[in-house]
Amino acid sequence: LNNMDQASLKAYEWLTKFYHHVLRHTKEGKEAYAYLQKRGFSEEMLETFQIGYSPQSTDIVTQFLEKKGFHLQQMVSAGLLSANEQNQITDRFRGRVVFPIRTHLGKTVGFGGRTISGQEPKYLNSPESSLFHKGKLLYNFDLARSEIRKKAQAILFEGYMDVISAHQAGIRNGVASLGTSVTEQQASLLKRYAESVVICYDGDRAGIEASYKAAKLFKQTGCNVMIASIPEGLDPDAYLKKYGAQKFKHEVMEASNTYMTFLMEYYKKDYNLQLEGDRIQYMNKVIAELTLLDRPMEQEHYAKELAKTFDLSLSTILEEIHIKRKKLG
Ligand code: CTP
Ligand code: MN
Ligand code: MN
Ligand code: MN
Ligand code: MN
Repeated sequence: LNNMDQASLKAYEWLTKFYHHVLRHTKEGKEAYAYLQKRGFSEEMLETFQIGYSPQSTDIVTQFLEKKGFHLQQMVSAGLLSANEQNQITDRFRGRVVFPIRTHLGKTVGFGGRTISGQEPKYLNSPESSLFHKGKLLYNFDLARSEIRKKAQAILFEGYMDVISAHQAGIRNGVASLGTSVTEQQASLLKRYAESVVICYDGDRAGIEASYKAAKLFKQTGCNVMIASIPEGLDPDAYLKKYGAQKFKHEVMEASNTYMTFLMEYYKKDYNLQLEGDRIQYMNKVIAELTLLDRPMEQEHYAKELAKTFDLSLSTILEEIHIKRKKLG
């Protein structure tokens, strides 16, 4: 690390403490504290995740960093402060609940800030910098790592709130991609610790589309992938708060779908299976996926299912797979 990065790391450490202190012990932090309480987060979670709050003030954080002797322009480059149109330096996360984003070694290298007053964007994150590469780390990987290894399984969520709610409910192998697009680097990071990954994204269209992309990626990485489904309109955090940990375990985790079952369901959205032509196209699509499976046992299992659904014989489906295989060479 060069000197500038060293200084930024130090600043991240100071600011994590500063924001957290504001949330826990000042009147400026009361509204944010009440917000988090209302959302059901315990004191213990505020501590474990060092959640904080950046006051509404435009320059209290700037002043704090200046007093500590940090070079302010450098703090802007590192994403700790902002510069406005007149090139005045201002606090970046003002009026937001702040989530420190740590590396796998537990060093804070970025912040995610959630508005508590309906501002846009809902989340403001640190920009990419020489320290912070969003696509290379997973939120909470440092705390979840030992549990992931122990269980040989990781749960992949979309956001901070999902990870923290899960942790509060005793589910300690959760990490987040911080948004809906997982990268290859994030997938191979997980692969090193977990044989299997359960994708547990939000129960909306974006969540389903992202689950599809993530599932494909993890499969390519060689992970055993399962895809959980959250009821429409909820996300894991909201589900856990509404129904509790037991129901989440039994009706979401244990009910998660295998890769092929998820795909067979997912591809239905493009076809009207009442129509003969669509049915054929859908079957072709599924058979193409079956062809890619490397285990004959799995292939036969899903081929049987497809045969049953469309009232064909198993041998016909297997023959189709055989033909497609030959074409692939
Ligand atoms: N996200 C982001 N920028 C946004 C929206 C989302 O970086 N403008 C990332 C955040 O990491 C967020 C995750 O994507 O945690 C999931 O987004 P979303 O489901 O919209 O937010 P929630 O985590 O559900 O947050 P909340 O429950 O507070 O609405
Ligand atoms: Mn504390
Ligand atoms: Mn979402
Ligand atoms: Mn949410
Ligand atoms: Mn969400």
